[in-house]
Amino acid sequence: MTGHSGSIFDNSLFERRNELAELMSVIKGRRSIRRYEEKEVSEEVLNQLFEALKWTPSWANTQCWELIVVKSQETKHKLQGTISKGNPATKALVNAPVVLALGGKLESAGYYHGQVTTKFGDWLMFDLGLATQNLCLAAHNLGLGTVIVGLFDHDKAKEVLAVPPGYELVVLIPLGYPAKEPGAPKRREPHEFVHFDKF
Ligand SMILES: Cc1cc2nc3c(=O)[nH]c(=O)nc-3n(C[C@H](O)[C@H](O)[C@H](O)COP(=O)(O)O)c2cc1C
Repeated sequence: MTGHSGSIFDNSLFERRNELAELMSVIKGRRSIRRYEEKEVSEEVLNQLFEALKWTPSWANTQCWELIVVKSQETKHKLQGTISKGNPATKALVNAPVVLALGGKLESAGYYHGQVTTKFGDWLMFDLGLATQNLCLAAHNLGLGTVIVGLFDHDKAKEVLAVPPGYELVVLIPLGYPAKEPGAPKRREPHEFVHFDKF
């Protein structure tokens, strides 16, 4: 039996190989995009990104994320004012038709009954990293470009977006149709970072 009727065993080996090739092409093809076309991002596309965010794995399924979708040019300019000097994504903050601001609830991921469970404390950064990747890969698969922006004054940006106490804002993600596809920055090879049995 072939097709998508549920179990992975329903798919032929050929189909599964194709799916893996597609997945690898999405993973490898995503680039940080810092210049965008003057083209709106539709409601439908945004909804698909929200769905990708929804399916992010998280610590004990705590789903600590909160997403603010910024379309107002005035707000984008204010966010640009929080970007650290020399950040290559500075222009992207106002040129992108949409900026996604991703943050989350503190003391949720990594906690059990209000107590920290590991030496790493709050796992918010970890879960938001996964959420960010889900958003960026889904956007790329839909023909959109993103750039993850982490270098800015987080407290000032929190004020701009009225983020309440108990929550942090972690990344800003300009989103739009790419005006320019940059080349891929060099990566370390697996043999440089993969260890077998011991470090
Ligand atoms: C947590 C994080 C923070 C980042 N912050 C910035 C940033 O502030 N400005 C920027 O231009 N790019 C930023 N980037 C993008 C990286 O520079 C980029 O992912 C890296 O150079 C690899 O390029 P690629 O995304 O095209 O593969 C950030 C990426 C990550 C994962």
